[in-house]
Amino acid sequence: MISNNINLAIDYLKNDGIIGLPTETVYGLAGNAFSEKSIKKIFEVKKRPSFNPLIVHIKCQKELSKIAIEVPEKAKQLADAFWPGPLTLILKKQSTISDLITANQDTVAVRIPNHPIALELLNQLEFPLVAPSANPFTRISPTKAVHVEHYFKNEVDMVLDGGSCTAGIESTIVGFDDDKVVIYRLGALAVDEIEKVVGKVHFHSKKDEKTITPGMHLKHYAPSTNFILTHDVLETLTLFSGQKIGLLLFKATIENMNLNQQYVLSEKGSLEEAASQLFEALHQLDNENFDVIIAEYFPNYGLGLAINDRLERASRK
Ligand code: TXA
Ligand code: MG
Repeated sequence: MISNNINLAIDYLKNDGIIGLPTETVYGLAGNAFSEKSIKKIFEVKKRPSFNPLIVHIKCQKELSKIAIEVPEKAKQLADAFWPGPLTLILKKQSTISDLITANQDTVAVRIPNHPIALELLNQLEFPLVAPSANPFTRISPTKAVHVEHYFKNEVDMVLDGGSCTAGIESTIVGFDDDKVVIYRLGALAVDEIEKVVGKVHFHSKKDEKTITPGMHLKHYAPSTNFILTHDVLETLTLFSGQKIGLLLFKATIENMNLNQQYVLSEKGSLEEAASQLFEALHQLDNENFDVIIAEYFPNYGLGLAINDRLERASRK
């Protein structure tokens, strides 16, 4: 059930329920971070492997000391600069944080979401919320209440409606290794913005993903339709002649092709706008019964990096 009744959401959350939660990035599947029952339901409903840890959502920086210990100076600077916002910090966890949340690691992921309804809800609760993105494991992330409703129907108590997510792509995940700032997942906060605050960052190597960040699977965000990512759309089109093709494009349509088969993310060429439309476009294209969806690579800077990361994972076989 989709509803904008915050009081109802509070009731469910206080009673170990789980809800679809709007945030500025994507919708989350949220439950009480201190309820083992809620946490277990989240893993079950999402079909998420237990070794993939969850993000804790808090209402204000004061709450951080209840979740994490030893917050490095650079983490504080980033929190001051970007919270509430699409930045998740990986910090040493407090002993009160369940091993179910962290998948037995000694670190915990935490952020303050920048969405008026999420903040209003958190402000009325006495506990933080754990929330992974509200999509079944490996599927396209949800940026509208209806996406969550289609995926989970009666498996969630309700979906709290907060409209379309404005950022439209998940938070950027940042960890700390001594004095180094390490990007674990590209996301809605561009790396250049982070570097303006803490200087040069390091990138967590994809090779290490299986061992260190089990959750960041190479195949993810995947439509059911065959999905191809290319630097040269025209050439790739020739490989699929005779098939029903859907196109995912940055700024401009391809000439001599039916416009109904083409989804342009930002006519004005804004990477922010493109990111905000990305998952909605994938949901729509996936519902059109195309034989194949062909997407073009985005420019490799700013939010284009995060968009290409999602498209690469969506195209993994
Ligand atoms: O924008 C977002 O971050 C959204 C909204 C709902 O807040 N949430 C989200 O959660 O994307 P999820 O669970 O889909 O992705 C969280 C990622 C996972 O890949 C997980 O492996 C990683 O965060 N993660 C969580 N805790 C971690 C930890 N302690 N160390 C390393 N990675 C961690
Ligand atoms: Mg996710």
